Amino acid sequence: MAGEMSGPSKEAIAIMTRVLHRQTGHSYPVAAGGQGITIRDAAGKDYIDASSGAAVSCVGHSHPDVLAAMREQLDRLAYAHTSFFTTEVAEALADDLVAHAPPGIGHVFFVSGGSEAIEAALKLARQYFVERGEPQRRYIIARRQSYHGITLGALAIGGREWQRKQFAPLLIEAHHVSPVYEYRDRRADETAQAYGERLAREVERKIEELGGKNVIAFVAETVVGATLGAVPAVPGYFQRVRDICDRHGVLLILDEVMCGMGRTGTLHACEQEGVSPDLMALAKGLGGGYAPIGALMMQDKIFDAIAGGSGAFQHSHTYMGHPLACAAALAVQRVMRRDNLLANVRSQGAHLARRLKERFGNHPFVGDVRGRGLFQGVELVADRGSKEPFDSKLKLHARVKREAMARGLLVYPMGGSADGVRGDHILLAPPFIIDAPGIDTIVERLGEAIDGATAQTQ
Ligand SMILES: Cc1ncc(COP(=O)(O)O)c(C=O)c1O
Repeated sequence: MAGEMSGPSKEAIAIMTRVLHRQTGHSYPVAAGGQGITIRDAAGKDYIDASSGAAVSCVGHSHPDVLAAMREQLDRLAYAHTSFFTTEVAEALADDLVAHAPPGIGHVFFVSGGSEAIEAALKLARQYFVERGEPQRRYIIARRQSYHGITLGALAIGGREWQRKQFAPLLIEAHHVSPVYEYRDRRADETAQAYGERLAREVERKIEELGGKNVIAFVAETVVGATLGAVPAVPGYFQRVRDICDRHGVLLILDEVMCGMGRTGTLHACEQEGVSPDLMALAKGLGGGYAPIGALMMQDKIFDAIAGGSGAFQHSHTYMGHPLACAAALAVQRVMRRDNLLANVRSQGAHLARRLKERFGNHPFVGDVRGRGLFQGVELVADRGSKEPFDSKLKLHARVKREAMARGLLVYPMGGSADGVRGDHILLAPPFIIDAPGIDTIVERLGEAIDGATAQTQ
């Protein structure tokens, strides 16, 4: 096999790449296969996918029922442009999503990912007011330390300063208020309720400052994912925000791209907040990693304004409602229901939270463990008492990722939690099919990875 002998080794392929990867100069292992909660690289090393990539692979890898549904769709029809046709599978997925949606949501607009869902949300919200004869509404309010995607509109409303900075001249005007970040920002003399009230009032003050009749929408992740590390709001916050938005005629857009589709133990994270958004962005777990798909769900009043007005949302993509992606997403939904996976998210989520608290409750460099369901975050601090973050130059989050991968564990660490620049956290989001021994192994390997990474900083 002379050809093979002279060709690059599988490991070397990652270095001799023509791909502009996320980081140049970094050698990525080659993912060669996936089964259940595990990804295997080309060198034969197994990794437990404890973050489902970025909270994507919710039913695990190579699920036979999802693959079968996709093959069946491929055999029937791979693609038909949406300006000519609808497809059975897109209609069936829309029916399925609407049947399980929060109250008042009756239609869905399909896209191919989270950023596209957010872009569509911003434009649909704006067009809604134009159709209603309120063209003066032009402002979007969102929160600091949030992530809504990487395209220009999504980046503009996102609150990750380091990521926006160089693109600032290209970004639309957006206004930001405080995130709900109880671990760092609730005052010692304040109840969680009072803290939530204070932050909701901040939203209202911002609306008033911009002029209630000039604001299009308030956008928030129901549970903040990548930027803060699985941080839920305090009780009552979203209900107060909902009331405030209603009082000013402002739309509430919830970004459930990461925290939605079962991740927190209910299909939609907002179910646990007791609110129904005007627009809700979904992606990641919707297709479970089997195909790129996102969705924007909308209240009837928004659909009706378009249908009774111009009759067309001025926004479309070539691949929207792709039949293969819809087939994958529909199969993921059916597997989740048939196998009662939301119950597993709740029970294994409770087990994960318990095990993390046992392992890190007294850890000198862990300040907080928080989250909901199989969406848990661990925040690292240099000093537990003062909550002082590690020096951002140490890039502790990246060290933890490396140490975890060396131990056959995939987690999703990130920097900037404390103030947009400093602060490190690790996001855990295992597939919904995880069992208790799987959780135990994750926590054990994570403990070793954190110990290994923090030891390098001392
Ligand atoms: C909350 C949230 N919104 C939007 C996005 C953007 O999604 P995508 O990367 O699919 O464009 C992400 C991605 O991480 C996200 O976490």
